[in-house]
Amino acid sequence: MPENKLSLDTLALHAGHTPDTATLSRAVPIYQTSSYVFKSSDHAAKLFALEEPGNIYTRIMNPTTDVLEKRMAELDGGVGALAVASGQAAITYAVLNIAQAGQNIVSTSYLYGGTYNLFHYTLPKLGIEVKFVDSSDAENYRNAIDENTRLIYCESVGNPKNNVDDIEAIAKIAHDAGIPFVVDNTVTTPFLFRPLDHGAGNSPNPTLRTTVSDSGMRSAVFPISSRCALNC
Ligand SMILES: Cc1ncc(COP(=O)(O)O)c(C=O)c1O
Repeated sequence: MPENKLSLDTLALHAGHTPDTATLSRAVPIYQTSSYVFKSSDHAAKLFALEEPGNIYTRIMNPTTDVLEKRMAELDGGVGALAVASGQAAITYAVLNIAQAGQNIVSTSYLYGGTYNLFHYTLPKLGIEVKFVDSSDAENYRNAIDENTRLIYCESVGNPKNNVDDIEAIAKIAHDAGIPFVVDNTVTTPFLFRPLDHGAGNSPNPTLRTTVSDSGMRSAVFPISSRCALNC
């Protein structure tokens, strides 16, 4: 994919939105619909069979949310994103799409409290073990990975410790193991740091996802690296 040369400021304002030809509205319209009409039963059948792209139901897709998802993906240098209602929802989706009962993930022990509770209490109820490591030494990840490990996880700036781990060293360990590396990039935002730029480019393996959440908007998005989109 050619590199997008637009600045982050321009992307933050415009990425993912093309003014519609009927109204030429500059601002992104807010589509307050839960459902959509179908041109015919044949059209509906094709949409539900995923043979034709289009809107089916707002919980699955909505044109306003679609702009947010495309914008966040471009800001983070990913190929796609999924917007959900909270940081914990984004992290849950990221983990459950990769790991299942009987498997494990390896996480930093320096975690935001909500994520710690999700990893320590909730995921084990679903049969997913979480191994916590001291992420200040990237090798601790390598030592904890076993044949059932499906991803490794850290925060780009840990909350509340404000620790900064060696993201590229951890990414290399993920590459060596052939598993994705998920980074919660809430604290820095893509303006200061883009995890996908630090590890996604140097391996044929699925590599890096990132979750971003904005507490003020109660939104959370996880851009997906091209390799994850293809392979995970
Ligand atoms: C590191 C980190 N991740 C995620 C979140 C937000 O998660 P949630 O929206 O589930 O509260 C926060 C909020 O402070 C955070 O500090």
